[in-house]
Amino acid sequence: MKERILRELIENKEGHISGQSLSERLGISRTAVWKYINVLKKQGYEIEAVSNRGYRLLASPDVLTPEEVYPLLKTSMLGRNIIHREGLASTSILAKEIAQKRQEGTVVVAEEQTEGRGRLGRSWYSPRGGGIWASIILKPKLRPDRAYQLTQVAAVAVVKAIGEVTSLPAGIKWPNDIIIKGKKVCGILTEMNAETDIINHIILSIGLNVNANKAEVPDELKDKITFLSSECGLPVSRKNLLAVLLQKIEQGYQIFLQHGFRSAVEDCRRFSVLLGREVLVSQVDRTLRGKAVQITDEGVLLVETSDGRIEVISGDVSVRGTKGYL
Ligand code: BTN
Repeated sequence: MKERILRELIENKEGHISGQSLSERLGISRTAVWKYINVLKKQGYEIEAVSNRGYRLLASPDVLTPEEVYPLLKTSMLGRNIIHREGLASTSILAKEIAQKRQEGTVVVAEEQTEGRGRLGRSWYSPRGGGIWASIILKPKLRPDRAYQLTQVAAVAVVKAIGEVTSLPAGIKWPNDIIIKGKKVCGILTEMNAETDIINHIILSIGLNVNANKAEVPDELKDKITFLSSECGLPVSRKNLLAVLLQKIEQGYQIFLQHGFRSAVEDCRRFSVLLGREVLVSQVDRTLRGKAVQITDEGVLLVETSDGRIEVISGDVSVRGTKGYL
């Protein structure tokens, strides 16, 4: 009901809409209308109430609800079904639970995560309203052994969305970290449910740091992560960024499925912060040191080591800088 009242307010933004007319249209009492208006105000909507004229929406908060994001979306499939929660343990846990029954392109998004998870079992800092914490359900007709390329398709989309919305030049630390000035601004987690030769679904999760409350960022993260607002000196509209991000991911995804990986891999090379740099690659069973020399047409990182050229398919990569490997 709250959503319907909001829709009425948005549609009548130019003028006032009376409590009486809202109550008639929605079939609820005027007291109930007033209660829902107060709930909306608590959520950050600025609503003017003028006696004898009614209610008027003056401003909307930067929240990632369907009501706020749908009007901004330019996609045909991604984000057409948004499941929004104020708080969740992790969007990827909920997305995995519902993936089987939900249509492709469904997005689970939360204002805050209490148990945000990163790769390799790490935790992911996900403060309320501080970023885009989202998991997208995909059901591609793709061989399971090519699913890892989707991470790189998404990484390219994130860089392009950040560029379009903020003009900040972000780079990709192969395969799934997005970096600005040496600090991580976004991480991507791709989780697959597959059989030998078909993918049931993929949960493509994105954690994108947008608006920081610097005082609250844990000390151990301060030198490692950054937020778009810190880099551009202004708050960034998360709902607008989410809409642009979904559009870029959809474009990249469709090109990838229809024409293959070539275009994405060219962008990966162009945006790479690794190529030509000395790197340290930590893998489950070994650590490699060398120079990152190429990303192959399949999306594999080539590292020139003292033992020759080694193909890196997975691993945690750090770049050698003036203060050691970062
Ligand atoms: C990484 O770089 O380690 C990947 C981070 C992925 C974080 C996102 S935030 C939305 C989704 N929910 C989670 O718990 N994790 C992912």
